[in-house]
Amino acid sequence: MLNINTKKSSIITLLLFIFFVPYISTSSSFAQKREEINLETLLDETASAAGEMPGDMKFQYEMAELLGERVGPDDSGSVHHAGGLSSFYTGPEKLFPGKGTYGHLFNFLPVIRWYDPAHYYNNDIFHPGSTVEGEFVNTECVTCHMVESPGIVKQWKQSKHSKPSGGEGVVGCDRCHGKNHKKLIMPSYDICGECHEKQLQGHRQGGQGSHANAYHLELIELGCQTEKPAEETTACLGCHVVENRCDGCHTRHRFSLTEARKPNSCAVCHSGPEQYEYEMYMQSYHGMIFQGEGQTWDWTKPLNAENYTVPTCAYCHMPEGDHNVISTSTVYTYMGTSLVDRGADRYKATRDAWIAVCKDCHSPRFARDHLEAMDEAVKLSFVKYREAMRIVMDLYNHNLIDPMPAGLAPDSTGHNVFSLLPGKGEMRKYNVSNIERLAYEMLVDIIDAIFKAKSHNAYYSPVYGYWEWAQDRWLIMIKDEASKLKRIAEIEKKIGIKHSAYSFWKQGEYTDLLLGWKRKE
Ligand code: HEC
Ligand code: HEC
Ligand code: HEC
Ligand code: HEC
Ligand code: HEC
Ligand code: HEC
Ligand code: HEC
Ligand code: HEC
Repeated sequence: MLNINTKKSSIITLLLFIFFVPYISTSSSFAQKREEINLETLLDETASAAGEMPGDMKFQYEMAELLGERVGPDDSGSVHHAGGLSSFYTGPEKLFPGKGTYGHLFNFLPVIRWYDPAHYYNNDIFHPGSTVEGEFVNTECVTCHMVESPGIVKQWKQSKHSKPSGGEGVVGCDRCHGKNHKKLIMPSYDICGECHEKQLQGHRQGGQGSHANAYHLELIELGCQTEKPAEETTACLGCHVVENRCDGCHTRHRFSLTEARKPNSCAVCHSGPEQYEYEMYMQSYHGMIFQGEGQTWDWTKPLNAENYTVPTCAYCHMPEGDHNVISTSTVYTYMGTSLVDRGADRYKATRDAWIAVCKDCHSPRFARDHLEAMDEAVKLSFVKYREAMRIVMDLYNHNLIDPMPAGLAPDSTGHNVFSLLPGKGEMRKYNVSNIERLAYEMLVDIIDAIFKAKSHNAYYSPVYGYWEWAQDRWLIMIKDEASKLKRIAEIEKKIGIKHSAYSFWKQGEYTDLLLGWKRKE
């Protein structure tokens, strides 16, 4: 349904140009004229494609007239000035089908073949083939690719795979990609695991929240964001691919440990809202010293206090090269959005293990006090959230959330009521009321950031960046919004206005692309 056939739509566009362009330049009230033209007769020839035409383009024509431009598709290469208002959406030319429980609800851009090679690239149905025919041995691959992709050959030559310590057993291009050039393979973790069993095991261990579940469970099976168009769902894969491939931290084709030990390797994914670990680390004394001196350290050495002045991400979260990144975590809390006291008695063993890590460089009392300060800060942040949600729940119970929940486009599970009710579908970020979005942000962006700030010893963020100041502000915004909603409702009641959600909450050029909404039609 999102798979708009651009060939067809460019024919339509051509027709539109032929018939409409004279009007654009001659008529001052084009929008009016356009309404007089019967689009259906124009499109008779391609009747089946008519359904794929963007429906109401009145706005585009009005804007085109204002800007002195032509209305056109957004994939023509023409520049549409001033915000692209005279253009309309065409969608990607090619989409790959989704997989898993919600596979029928969403598609991906072809780039998914690199993120999920086992299912897409290496699969006969989606395999892209090649212009080169034949079976080759490694020396042939290398010779040809020295011309075809010299950078890759150089990086491979720098890796241990091209010159293993023993001198024997070179791991060539053909070992990871296969010999048959028409049926090349893109290696997911299983191929690496054939020789690196210990790392594979660690990587596949750990429950929810771990790298082992980053892709199939969190993004495919739990159907996160499935109500979104392909351009957006595909954007999640770049990071969540960490499950499928082993080159997230030591990148291909150097597979360098020096690179993986630095915090920058985790930062590609562990930064930004919902996962501020890198920013928090950088704000801490650990990060300050790493930034100041890290360039001079010998990163070929294993991560321990003997070799490094301050710890990096892998030092703390992958002790002894343990590839299960959550083996040091106290308990799963969905990025810190569930409340737990990590200092409670039942977690004594994990807490002691953390103190033992700090003890490489700090006194145990110092470590214990700082970790306890984290526990207390986290608990307090939930007090503010409860205060906020008590207000929001009250609005919900009195039917005061605007737009009225029933007026919203549903999500992938068909759920279109209040998005903050646990167990009733996903917490959504789009097409929810302002107050729901504010509450969502308080929990998922701010509370989460408080945990990340305190666990990584950032000093700026907990006060100014993401804690007191931000959470206080959000609490005020929620109260302010609630106050307005209540007052408007009282006025409406008094003068007898019956309000229902405006249609723009349900429909619009973007909103119409939401699968949930389309399904409901
Ligand atoms: C005769 C030259 C030649 C030889 C030998 C050769 N390649 Fe290639 N390879 C190419 C060219 C050209 C391309 C890009 C065009 C294409 O894939 O159709 C390519 C593309 C690739 C790609 C990228 C595929 C994609 O979908 O983008 C990989 C991986 C690859 N080669 C691996 C190998 C391996 C492994 C060998 C040895 C078994 C090998 N090549 C031998 C010329 C060669
Ligand atoms: C140890 C395994 C391994 C070896 C050896 C290896 N590759 Fe790769 N290669 C990978 C991985 C992993 C990817 C990423 C796959 C994906 O994106 O799904 C990749 C991707 C590629 C790509 C496509 C992505 C891009 O960046 O363009 C090309 C081309 C390629 N390799 C060529 C080569 C050539 C040529 C050699 C030999 C000089 C080689 N590879 C050796 C693991 C390997
Ligand atoms: C055919 C066996 C084989 C396969 C397949 C293989 N490796 Fe290796 N790997 C080796 C050997 C051998 C070494 C070198 C060990 C040494 O010299 O100490 C090595 C070394 C490494 C190192 C350490 C490099 C260093 O500087 O010490 C990393 C990281 C690595 N491989 C990752 C991978 C990844 C990721 C994949 C899959 C994309 C992979 N390997 C596939 C055999 C393999
Ligand atoms: C290619 C992206 C990527 C890289 C690189 C990466 N991670 Fe992750 N990491 C993720 C994703 C995605 C998740 C969430 C997993 C899930 O959804 O189940 C995650 C989860 C985690 C978790 C568990 C979080 C929780 O809430 O339970 C830890 C700890 C972690 N990563 C540490 C690291 C460390 C340390 C590094 C660097 C050595 C690193 N990661 C590198 C993507 C990445
Ligand atoms: C910049 C990299 C990045 C992008 C892009 C990204 N994520 Fe994540 N995601 C992560 C990391 C890292 C974590 C783990 C964070 C933590 O626990 O602190 C995570 C955690 C999650 C979790 C919670 C997993 C758990 O069990 O704790 C879900 C669900 C999730 N992401 C969904 C998505 C969706 C849906 C998208 C696209 C809209 C997306 N992510 C885009 C990096 C990313
Ligand atoms: C979260 C980041 C990350 C991911 C994902 C990751 N690695 Fe590693 N890997 C590291 C780090 C960091 C080190 C260095 C550990 C150390 O120095 O203690 C390492 C070291 C290694 C080594 C060298 C071990 C040694 O002692 O010489 C191999 C081999 C390896 N990884 C293979 C893999 C394989 C196979 C996968 C996928 C199953 C994988 N890695 C996925 C971060 C990662
Ligand atoms: C000094 C050690 C240390 C360093 C360095 C460190 N962390 Fe942490 N990290 C912690 C502690 C302690 C926690 C809270 C763990 C707990 O008790 O569950 C934590 C929590 C996390 C979590 C949430 C895990 C969960 O189970 O919810 C992620 C993700 C994470 N760190 C990633 C990183 C990344 C990425 C870096 C580097 C930018 C990093 N950490 C650097 C100590 C460290
Ligand atoms: C490899 C050594 C090393 C490890 C391990 C380590 N730190 Fe640090 N840490 C340092 C250094 C060096 C500094 C800067 C000098 C100082 O303040 O002691 C520092 C500074 C700090 C500071 C700021 C000090 C202040 O007085 O403001 C805090 C807080 C901190 N670390 C907490 C921890 C915690 C908690 C752990 C364990 C989860 C930990 N560190 C593990 C080396 C380390």
